[in-house]
Amino acid sequence: MKVNAKSDHKLLPKSTTKVAAKGDAKGKKVNKAWLHDHINDPYVKQARKEGYRARAAFKLKEMDETLGLVKPGDCVVDLGSTPGAWSQYVRRKLSPTGAAAGALNGRIIALDLLPMEPIEGVSFIQGDFREPDVLEKLEQALRSEQGAVKVDLVISDMAPNLSGIESVDAARIAHLVELAVEFAQSRMKPDGSLVVKLFHGSGYDDLVKLFQASFKVVKRMKPKASRSNSSETFLVGKSLKNVT
Ligand SMILES: C[S@@+](CC[C@H](N)C(=O)[O-])C[C@H]1O[C@@H](n2cnc3c(N)ncnc32)[C@H](O)[C@@H]1O
Repeated sequence: MKVNAKSDHKLLPKSTTKVAAKGDAKGKKVNKAWLHDHINDPYVKQARKEGYRARAAFKLKEMDETLGLVKPGDCVVDLGSTPGAWSQYVRRKLSPTGAAAGALNGRIIALDLLPMEPIEGVSFIQGDFREPDVLEKLEQALRSEQGAVKVDLVISDMAPNLSGIESVDAARIAHLVELAVEFAQSRMKPDGSLVVKLFHGSGYDDLVKLFQASFKVVKRMKPKASRSNSSETFLVGKSLKNVT
């Protein structure tokens, strides 16, 4: 199966319609259809209303409301965080009053290849999660005067650039998921949780097996905000099996 990972993480202002519709006739049709769906999407409207940078916030919200992932006092690592909707959601959830600013009962470290507009209370590292020096920066951020801080929740919405070649894309997706699992195994509390995005297609079953070997509880999630025509899906692993 070919990976269909339609991007939905940007809340385009209406003024971008003309720009997006430029190009060849086919591209124009696709862009127009995408824009039509996007502008009429209830999650896009809701995200705008609630001040979220992307509709993706509602994917995490649904998973959190179903599985109770974000808890007061948590240390959360958000991988592939830009533009920042998941971090915004966690930030509000960790606020004693649900606010986007002010007191924060917990810690959030976000990381992405791309820059991210600051979010109050969220530390941001720009870099490629696959690179050892970037991982080291993340490790450093987790170190405190008392030593290394263990993470309660790792959320990864990382999506690689897709080539359209199935085997190449499956390998890129698998690599990011495997690295997230490795990170969780070494840096997460035994009863912590890991959320990863992945795609149905070749490699999916192996990643489910990896989760089953790594976590006591594994849940497959397809939140309502994840477009039904996308092969995007999520795995949630709760409580590590082999604690290092
Ligand atoms: C779908 S977006 C994330 C949306 C985000 N969860 C939100 O709520 O706003 C996927 C992100 O993964 C990032 N990404 C992909 N590969 C990465 C890597 N190797 N290291 C760090 N970030 C990566 C991309 O730059 C992109 O910003």
